[in-house]
Amino acid sequence: MSEATGKKAVLQLDGKEIDLPIYSGTLGPDVIDVKDVLAAGHFTFDPGFVSTAACESKITFIDGGKGVLLHRGYPIDQLATKADYLETCYLLLNGELPTAEQKQEFDAKVRNHTMVHDQVGRFFNGFRRDAHPMAIMCGVVGALSAFYHNGFDVENIDHREITAIRLIAKVPTLAAWTYKYTVGQPFVYPRNDLSYAENFLYMMFATPADRDYKVDPILAKAMDRIFTLHADHEQNASTSTVRLAGSTGANPYACIAAGIAALWGPAHGGANEAVLKMLDEIGAVENVAPFMEKVKTKEVKLMGFGHRVYKNFDPRAKVMKETCDEVLTALGINDPQLALAMELERIALSDEYFIKRNLYPNVDFYSGIILKAIGIPTEMFTVIFALARTVGWISHWLEMHSAPYKIGRPRQLYTGETQRDIQGR
Ligand code: CMC
Repeated sequence: MSEATGKKAVLQLDGKEIDLPIYSGTLGPDVIDVKDVLAAGHFTFDPGFVSTAACESKITFIDGGKGVLLHRGYPIDQLATKADYLETCYLLLNGELPTAEQKQEFDAKVRNHTMVHDQVGRFFNGFRRDAHPMAIMCGVVGALSAFYHNGFDVENIDHREITAIRLIAKVPTLAAWTYKYTVGQPFVYPRNDLSYAENFLYMMFATPADRDYKVDPILAKAMDRIFTLHADHEQNASTSTVRLAGSTGANPYACIAAGIAALWGPAHGGANEAVLKMLDEIGAVENVAPFMEKVKTKEVKLMGFGHRVYKNFDPRAKVMKETCDEVLTALGINDPQLALAMELERIALSDEYFIKRNLYPNVDFYSGIILKAIGIPTEMFTVIFALARTVGWISHWLEMHSAPYKIGRPRQLYTGETQRDIQGR
């Protein structure tokens, strides 16, 4: 539990004073407890939750002013370069990085659950083959709730923990099958002798016609790093959605499907797909300047730029840019879109419009260029984000269920009709 600081805020309301206690976390701003405002007949008002802490959490800390992102205390750049994705998953779930033995045990557990019930495969046939992969993901991940519902007890810690493992293990299988379905290729079953990232790329790109398909280690390493960089990001829109859905005691697979829905939007995880579409539309470096003029007149948004929390730089974007350079160099790719992206960044970082609004590249600005180099089609970009973020969502769901919690139930400022009677009937 957070510590009471002994400090208080005093709210003057209708001639009365209400004392509001102030709590401190281990990092970040103190929070004012506004619960007592209700007893005084008022609600607080904060659309978009711009200054509202909706829960207490020990998982991830962001200092947006300084560009800091810590998972369980560890900086994201250290995790991206010194740990792999499954170690980061273990850290998010358990609070500590695994020992060699714990890592082996955790990896084995995840591998043991990579298959999905064979009936799940039939759900895909209900979708049009040109359905957006995120639409399919919402459906098939939600469908897992039908396989793990009877007998599931949210109060049982073992049930909750196995749910986390199942989700981390099965979402890559469903993500790869989503791709296979949209291109009309047969589903490829997981291979448990491969690493997490290798197995995902194998299920994406192997075909029955190419039995000796080998995953390029450079691509597997880049994929693993992309997963790590997207693993969690405290109380963002999709994580808050998972917590809100979870606060009703709903089935966890259905809660994760709700998170996938929230992630899909272009203001959130859908931005990585939107960045590549934007780069396609701009087409050439000479079109960058006129495009930026359109951004400044608010005709279009510069996708992959700006963040609700980061007002200096997004530390994930820094590692992503380095990874992008590494991958393109290692693969010998000279992607003209990288030159375009760098020109956009150069203008934005020196232009008063962007400087004044603290607009910097976010994690999605360079991820699309790497994903494209790996061979992932644009429409699958947000699916990759969802796959990687599943651990973040389920870590927050687990944290919420490990202590007493209340159903999430915001209030409103009602501005509709006052009471009236139906006339003439
Ligand atoms: N391009 C141009 N102008 C922008 C942009 C942008 N990408 N983002 C914000 N602004 C302007 C906005 O028009 C406003 O200007 P003014 O003060 O003149 O009205 C000002 O900056 C503040 O913007 P805001 O909309 O109040 O900021 P927000 O905190 O509500 O929105 C955001 C944050 C991420 C939704 C927004 O920056 C955005 O839409 N960015 C593009 C989409 C994107 O890249 N999203 C990925 C976020 S990182 C990955 C993830 O966590 O999902």
